[in-house]
Amino acid sequence: MEGETVPEARRAASKATRIALGIFVSGTLVLGTVLFLVSQGLIKFHPKQQYCLTSECIEAAAGILSKINQSVDPCENFYRFACDGWIYNHPIPEDMSNYGVYPWLRHNVDLKLKALLEKPISKRRDSEAVQKAKTLYTSCMNENKIEKADVKPLLSILRHSPFRWPVLESNIGPEGLWSERKFSLVQALATLRGQYSNSVFIRLYVAADDKISNRYILKLDQASLSLASREDYLENTTEAKSYRDAFLQFMVDTAVLLGANASRAESDMKSVLKLEVKIAEIMIPYENRTIEVMYNKMNISELSAMIPQFDWLGYIKKVIDTRLYPELKDIGPSENVIVRVPQYFKDLFRILENERKKTLANYLVWRMVYSRLFNLSRRFQYRWLEFSRV
Ligand SMILES: *[C@@H]1O[C@H](CO)[C@@H](O)[C@H](O)[C@H]1NC(C)=O
Ligand SMILES: *[C@@H]1O[C@H](CO)[C@@H](O)[C@H](O)[C@H]1NC(C)=O
Ligand SMILES: *[C@@H]1O[C@H](CO)[C@@H](O)[C@H](O)[C@H]1NC(C)=O
Ligand SMILES: *[C@@H]1O[C@H](CO)[C@@H](O)[C@H](O)[C@H]1NC(C)=O
Ligand SMILES: *[C@@H]1O[C@H](CO)[C@@H](O)[C@H](O)[C@H]1NC(C)=O
Ligand SMILES: *[C@@H]1O[C@H](CO)[C@@H](O)[C@H](O)[C@H]1NC(C)=O
Repeated sequence: MEGETVPEARRAASKATRIALGIFVSGTLVLGTVLFLVSQGLIKFHPKQQYCLTSECIEAAAGILSKINQSVDPCENFYRFACDGWIYNHPIPEDMSNYGVYPWLRHNVDLKLKALLEKPISKRRDSEAVQKAKTLYTSCMNENKIEKADVKPLLSILRHSPFRWPVLESNIGPEGLWSERKFSLVQALATLRGQYSNSVFIRLYVAADDKISNRYILKLDQASLSLASREDYLENTTEAKSYRDAFLQFMVDTAVLLGANASRAESDMKSVLKLEVKIAEIMIPYENRTIEVMYNKMNISELSAMIPQFDWLGYIKKVIDTRLYPELKDIGPSENVIVRVPQYFKDLFRILENERKKTLANYLVWRMVYSRLFNLSRRFQYRWLEFSRV
């Protein structure tokens, strides 16, 4: 019995081993296959979400959908496909001559800033700059005080050199009377640029040297005019002409609001507009302003040799606030500058040389007054709004 049972038991045991081995091998095969498929990304245990469904993503997607027009075939007319919705939903506002995503963004940022600026000052949390911004904002929002002050703050500027305004004659008092003998173009331009951040005729600023981008350098460029574009002065369409007429009337009315005699204002401001048209004619148009053409590096002494009618070094030294930047006190004729528009400057000083000083002074002070207009009482702002609707 025993002799028979041993091989029997051995056979049974080896059968169990074979089964176990079979299970092991097929288990390994299945596991291996699964591992391979997972590693190849063919099977996913936690399938990744294919769409971003956060509220920011939904908002952005809705924003894009609202700007396009899905019923236009993009291959037919891509502009209309991409922009129809935006154009339909964003008509140009009454008080603006153009509109786009940037002004829209600006407005939205303004609204957020307004909410921040209206929070009371916290000496503990707010940095000095934030406190100053809040104080400035509150002062601008104090409309009663602004209405009461009316023209007084501006007139006190207009009573001092270099901002005595010829068109006002002695109407704001004898100390406001402009004197041709005392007029200095360099002084007036430098004060406008240095103390009032107003670039007239010349735009002087500091920026990276285009060819040595880790170095800063002074750059000289043409400045903008009162109206937004050069074409506003040059086009001869009826529309452009009536825009210029409206602009002239706006200058005249502003001068009269500040105390000028109407007929004097009319003739003085006509000359001012004529001067601006002449400047518009010599401005280098956008399409000619290529980086290569505008890269004219030279020292101030070379610039002065090229355009000797203007005291470039004197102007630059007057603009720089050496109390803020004492290290710039020693700027001299060897200082390098990039003259972006040499031809404009040559033409500019040819025009200015032949212009009456009275017209130059009238124009420079007009630009100062124009840039302050928004800080004046309502009657000035209403007059501006009326003009901006033309
Ligand atoms: C979208 O295009 C269709 C077909 O051209 C047009 O009828 C519709 O007015 C357009 N929608 C908008 C918002 O412009
Ligand atoms: C507009 O007219 C003026 C004066 O007649 C002329 O000098 C100027 O070239 C004209 N401008 C254009 C863009 O046609
Ligand atoms: C403005 O000046 C003209 C000429 O100098 C003069 O006839 C006129 O009366 C003055 N107008 C006012 C409102 O002073
Ligand atoms: C602008 O460039 C064109 C082509 O080079 C030239 O004919 C034209 O005179 C330039 N205009 C000005 C204002 O520089
Ligand atoms: C200005 O540059 C010119 C040409 O490189 C040079 O000859 C002249 O000495 C420089 N002037 C000054 C004051 O550095
Ligand atoms: C704006 O007007 C206010 C009130 O008249 C005045 O205090 C403030 O200095 C003016 N700001 C500027 C930048 O002229």
